[in-house]
Amino acid sequence: MPATIIDGNAVAQQIRDEVRREIDVLRARGIDPGLAVVLVGDNPGSVSYVRGKTRDAEEIGIRSTTIRLPERTTQEELLHVVGGLNADPKWHGVLVQLPLPPQISESTVIAAVSPGKDVDGLTPVNVGRLFRGEPALISCTPHGVQELLMRSGNDPAGKHVVICGRSNLVGKPLAGLLMQKAPGGNATVTICHTGTRDIGAFTRRADIVVAAIGRPQAVTADMVRAGSVVIDVGVNRIPDATKKSGARLVGDVDFDAVAQKAGAITPVPGGVGPLTRAMLLANTLIAAKGGPGSVD
Ligand code: GUN
Repeated sequence: MPATIIDGNAVAQQIRDEVRREIDVLRARGIDPGLAVVLVGDNPGSVSYVRGKTRDAEEIGIRSTTIRLPERTTQEELLHVVGGLNADPKWHGVLVQLPLPPQISESTVIAAVSPGKDVDGLTPVNVGRLFRGEPALISCTPHGVQELLMRSGNDPAGKHVVICGRSNLVGKPLAGLLMQKAPGGNATVTICHTGTRDIGAFTRRADIVVAAIGRPQAVTADMVRAGSVVIDVGVNRIPDATKKSGARLVGDVDFDAVAQKAGAITPVPGGVGPLTRAMLLANTLIAAKGGPGSVD
């Protein structure tokens, strides 16, 4: 029997509705949530992502601004901009779009964002808090994957989750999140990566497989157990002569074949992507309320 398709757009809509209701309450209390996005250069992918983020924000009542800086911006100049946003109470969330040009150290810039405004959840402080099980702003894609699992009836508690990919943006924080002794956690987590000898030997033993490899259609049907849950974090553009643009989006999972075997699967597009965007709004709300762990 083909897999159930997990509808990321529907789950993201639920979350946006919840966030919007809370934003309305904050507004009534005189707090006007604001998100500042910094974009360096004009990488077309980044320009489009940032446009999406600010449009999502405006749609649910979060004020937003995009600060565009030229490709030749120095690290010092960027740190100055980030410092200004950290100090400005108008902006509850501050996000620096990645990647940054080669003259700028991403880790230095990420660490310069005030942890309370770090709606990307990428600062060492928030990542450390996440791993320690302390209140944190959690990075959007891992948090989105967790919400997608919970809200589609696939609670990871007690399950074996195999994550393919060890990036700072997805694999590592997702492992930290799903292993916590907390609602949405309690999973047994294995991480596979480019140094893993036989990834299939691990993924075939998984109840839940998360593909965050960055390689198109790398997870094939022989790598998953019948009935397992497959979450595809990949976004890859591959040539397709039948499309007007000459390309189409695919994930890290060979969707057509794996969907014949898995119990449930996320599509690309329309799976994890909408959740990543929704969790940025949720994080901006949390930051505007005074941070994670704060009392209403
Ligand atoms: N570029 C690709 N993904 C992300 C993300 O989650 N946050 C930021 N800031 N930049 C990105």
